[in-house]
Amino acid sequence: MVSTTSILASALAITSSLVSASPTFVTKTNDNGTSGKLEFEFPLKPKIMLISLFAPEDVWTQSLGLTNNITLPGLSPLFPSIGCNDDASICHMTTGESEINAACSTSAMLLADEFDFTSTYFLIGGIAGINPYMGTTGSVGFARYAVQVALGYEIDSRQIPSNWSTGYWLFGSSQPGEPATTIYGTEVYELNTNLREKVMGYLGDVQLNDTAEAAEYRSKYDYSPANQSPQIFKGDVATSDVYFAGNLLDEAFGNITSLWTNGTGKYALTAEEDNAIFEAMVRSHTAKKMDFSRVVLMRTASDFDRGYGGSDAVTAFQAEQYGFEIAIANIQIAYTPIIEGILNDWDSTFSKGVSPQDEWLYNADIFHTLVQRKREVREFERMMKRSQVGKFRR
Ligand SMILES: *[C@@H]1O[C@H](CO)[C@@H](O)[C@H](O)[C@H]1NC(C)=O
Ligand SMILES: *[C@@H]1O[C@H](CO)[C@@H](O)[C@H](O)[C@H]1NC(C)=O
Ligand SMILES: *[C@@H]1O[C@H](CO)[C@@H](O)[C@H](O)[C@H]1NC(C)=O
Ligand SMILES: *[C@@H]1O[C@H](CO)[C@@H](O)[C@H](O)[C@H]1NC(C)=O
Ligand SMILES: *[C@@H]1O[C@H](CO)[C@@H](O)[C@H](O)[C@H]1NC(C)=O
Ligand SMILES: *[C@@H]1O[C@H](CO)[C@@H](O)[C@H](O)[C@H]1NC(C)=O
Repeated sequence: MVSTTSILASALAITSSLVSASPTFVTKTNDNGTSGKLEFEFPLKPKIMLISLFAPEDVWTQSLGLTNNITLPGLSPLFPSIGCNDDASICHMTTGESEINAACSTSAMLLADEFDFTSTYFLIGGIAGINPYMGTTGSVGFARYAVQVALGYEIDSRQIPSNWSTGYWLFGSSQPGEPATTIYGTEVYELNTNLREKVMGYLGDVQLNDTAEAAEYRSKYDYSPANQSPQIFKGDVATSDVYFAGNLLDEAFGNITSLWTNGTGKYALTAEEDNAIFEAMVRSHTAKKMDFSRVVLMRTASDFDRGYGGSDAVTAFQAEQYGFEIAIANIQIAYTPIIEGILNDWDSTFSKGVSPQDEWLYNADIFHTLVQRKREVREFERMMKRSQVGKFRR
């Protein structure tokens, strides 16, 4: 069975650059556990691509029958294939953890000839740390921004000037609190908030998962929403390879989030991948391989980013908070009605897309990539119109 799989997989990888529309076989795990094969016509055009970051977040392959594996070069060696259902309307990938894995895997997927992602909705669903002033363990946050908070200068806290509040400050600035003057391009991404509104509209009846153990731990916080039941909320995500914790770093990165978003973003959740995924996506959008206005970022809270009053920072960081299982369960609970909603309302709403907000501060990224593209499209349309007029005159 293993050899059949790998022969088919490598045949697929080899032929992928040659074929574009001829049927090809992919391996499939049958309900009875045997290995079968299914005929697919490439490129596949999924309506939904679910993205996990590591194995426990894959609540989809079994539950949605995403067992047709498409092996692509350039994916993570730990997660070498994309799984699709039998009509390839829903697919799933796992990127591997942290920024480098996330960027490489996402690029490899988006640039593959086996797929046409131009109308696909990308639903990123992973666990995260939570700012207790924005939510609690098990809470489900939908983001407008992702900010690469640790991209900057750092000096050890024992050597910072006595009037500084943190050892982090931004590139090209001279002290904390000042905006950056050197731009890399990956600092901040802004998503389509009209799409966020639309998909959150499917969550009216959702009952989030919770446990008595998680509730007991969170009751140690003497403020809301930390000590309340998990909620669905809007909040932004910090991206950092360093798994930071403690109120001082959290406040420092909250301040940096505010700087990058002109005060419109609120640091709520912390994870290791989102800016990396978004850079790969913006480049693919520019290459006309996908549509960046069709991306949703949802993070569910597995642990607090800081301790409760009077707790020691390291002890709090390492404590069993009982948030992991409910965060994983809530990825599936919150995204399931959204997946159903997108498929049910495909013809009426999603196939044509959801226009992004007028007040789009960044238009995807700090280089305003989507506006640039729109300008190119308008220019092209004007040119076409002029040539039509010319034809008429002749
Ligand atoms: C498909 O991929 C999944 C996840 O990587 C793996 O567990 C499974 O064995 C693969 N199935 C086949 C038939 O190759
Ligand atoms: C397993 O399922 C496949 C697909 O339904 C079928 O073709 C095959 O005969 C089954 N094998 C066994 C041993 O039941
Ligand atoms: C810290 O003190 C220095 C020297 O007086 C001053 O130039 C700087 O602006 C101060 N920085 C902050 C963040 O207060
Ligand atoms: C939470 O999820 C766990 C694991 O899936 C399940 O056993 C439990 O019944 C769920 N509890 C609630 C309140 O949904
Ligand atoms: C965050 O910014 C506020 C307002 O400028 C400042 O008072 C505070 O010290 C900063 N906190 C950290 C940890 O940098
Ligand atoms: C932030 O706000 C200032 C003042 O309104 C404005 O000049 C600047 O362009 C804004 N920044 C962005 C990225 O929109």
